[in-house]
Amino acid sequence: MKTHTILMPLDMHLHLRDAVMLETVAPLTAYSYSGAIIMPNLVPPVTTLEDVKAYKQRVMAAVPNDNFEPYMTIFYKNYDKAFLESIASEIVAIKLYPAGITTNSEGGVSSFDIEEMRPTLEAMSELEIPLCVHGETDGFVMDREAEFMPVYELLAKNFPKLKIIMEHITTKAAVDMLDKYENLYATITVHHLLLTLDDVIGGMMMPHHFCKPIAKRPEDLDALLTVALSAHPKVMFGSDSAPHPQHAKESCGCAAGVFTAPISLQLLCEIFEQYDKLDNLQAFVSDNAQNIYGICPEFKEVTLEKRTFVVPEKYGSVVPMYAGEAIAWAIESID
Ligand code: NCD
Ligand code: ZN
Repeated sequence: MKTHTILMPLDMHLHLRDAVMLETVAPLTAYSYSGAIIMPNLVPPVTTLEDVKAYKQRVMAAVPNDNFEPYMTIFYKNYDKAFLESIASEIVAIKLYPAGITTNSEGGVSSFDIEEMRPTLEAMSELEIPLCVHGETDGFVMDREAEFMPVYELLAKNFPKLKIIMEHITTKAAVDMLDKYENLYATITVHHLLLTLDDVIGGMMMPHHFCKPIAKRPEDLDALLTVALSAHPKVMFGSDSAPHPQHAKESCGCAAGVFTAPISLQLLCEIFEQYDKLDNLQAFVSDNAQNIYGICPEFKEVTLEKRTFVVPEKYGSVVPMYAGEAIAWAIESID
């Protein structure tokens, strides 16, 4: 049986929600990952020191094992330096959403006025707090990410010491930005390494493949695969696993988000093996993130085996990607 071992896998973009949903999904990631960056888009969002500490406690309480680190974030606002100093040791990044662009982002940034943002972004640069960005405009859905590139350029140029992470990139345009500015990095999801828009709406409409940003064209998929499979040092895995209850997905007005937490590592193995790049998976799913964020994750050794695994129909109220379908790799053991 073919096996592959990954050390300290990290998910650099994860939604865990709260309450019963948190209790359902957090153990799934904690089982196979050493750590994950926890998104702050709760209702209301995580914005204060008390919020972060309390949410971290709730995450830890929902996780049965102790070899998992939730790396916390807060929701971007134009915070002052004193506040950032007070919270710097509790968070690994600040997450910026353009207002209303995705699930629970209503309180986000409504105009990218660099001078208004300058005090916050300069303080973040000094305190070495990275900025994670959901990079989409409110333009035509297929163009939203490409249209956001000038904002990344503006941020990268004005704040050269700020680490800026282009989250869940889906386009060749974003891939092309990576090497243009030293301080730009990116995360890529597993579903965006598998899907194009055709897989979302080309045949029957597939609510469990629908997310923001939406999967794009074949040439975009190719560009994403190129940087992920080569483990470009500025690219990290971030699943953007975003659970919504079945009724919110399979409904008139489908919520955006693909739930991959329990199968993401297995799918990554399948993709990297398919392209004969398994040797690069370690960098993509852990080492690059350790270098970029300067983190030292909890020890975990995950061995995967090449054997058919049928994805469960549901985890609690949530339908995962590829529910009921067979995938090629399974988790064999975890030490
Ligand atoms: C995310 C969610 O559901 O919180 N949805 C999504 O489609 N990715 C929010 C986000 O990351 O955009
Ligand atoms: Zn997300």
